[in-house]
Amino acid sequence: MTGENGRREFVKLSFAAGVPFALGATPDSLAGFASDPGQEELPFFEVVRNRRSVREFKPTPIPDEHLQQILDAARLAPTSGNQQPWKFVVIRDPSVIDELKEACVRKNLEARRARGMEATPEVAEQVTEGLKGYFSAPVYIVVLTDGESRYPTYNHWDGPMAAGYLMLAARALGYGTVFITDSIPADVTKEVLNISDRFTRVCITPLGVPVAWPDTPQKKPLDEFIVQDRF
Ligand SMILES: Cc1cc2nc3c(=O)[nH]c(=O)nc-3n(C[C@H](O)[C@H](O)[C@H](O)COP(=O)(O)O)c2cc1C
Repeated sequence: MTGENGRREFVKLSFAAGVPFALGATPDSLAGFASDPGQEELPFFEVVRNRRSVREFKPTPIPDEHLQQILDAARLAPTSGNQQPWKFVVIRDPSVIDELKEACVRKNLEARRARGMEATPEVAEQVTEGLKGYFSAPVYIVVLTDGESRYPTYNHWDGPMAAGYLMLAARALGYGTVFITDSIPADVTKEVLNISDRFTRVCITPLGVPVAWPDTPQKKPLDEFIVQDRF
């Protein structure tokens, strides 16, 4: 789904339709499939196969030891020259989560006005409804890279590495995540969380027990990616 400037239209889709953005995500289908948090961890390849982007969560709290394990997995990700240029902002205060949501709604309405689109109270309600699932988790983690790291030009590789590890660790423990870029814009998180320009936001992810595990969206077959020896 590509919009103007080649950017995917997460925000437009999710907000305009009044439903959480989902590419083939149909909650329910995998209900009962996931391990519940606290149960035995999934084996590695099941974790990889069954991690899904989750956009609606139960309010079930996350024990500190699970949160610790998940963040620790992120910490162990590889980085260029072992520079480890991250900060992980952990948000658990419901009032901060609410503030983020409200700021997202405001920003979306401003963007609509700037484009000459409607931004009536009804639209505001739709936008809020569309964001509800994204903001239903008990915990949020913002992955940042530090512009004053040792090799800052490599930060754009190191950042997503940590996020990937974090998402897999979360899945192993039975929690859902989603690597969010546009649905919760970077400038909104930076403003609400007082993040200085020294840091670049890689993503924000909710962390929680899914209401249901979404179906696997269509994935291309492996053959399409593989080049044997040379192009
Ligand atoms: C760089 C990147 C940006 C993404 N941004 C968003 C986003 O803003 N909102 C959202 O709901 N999902 C976002 N996603 C999640 C993708 O939509 C999701 O990974 C994809 O549809 C495949 O689904 P799966 O993660 O369940 O395999 C993003 C994923 C990546 C890797």
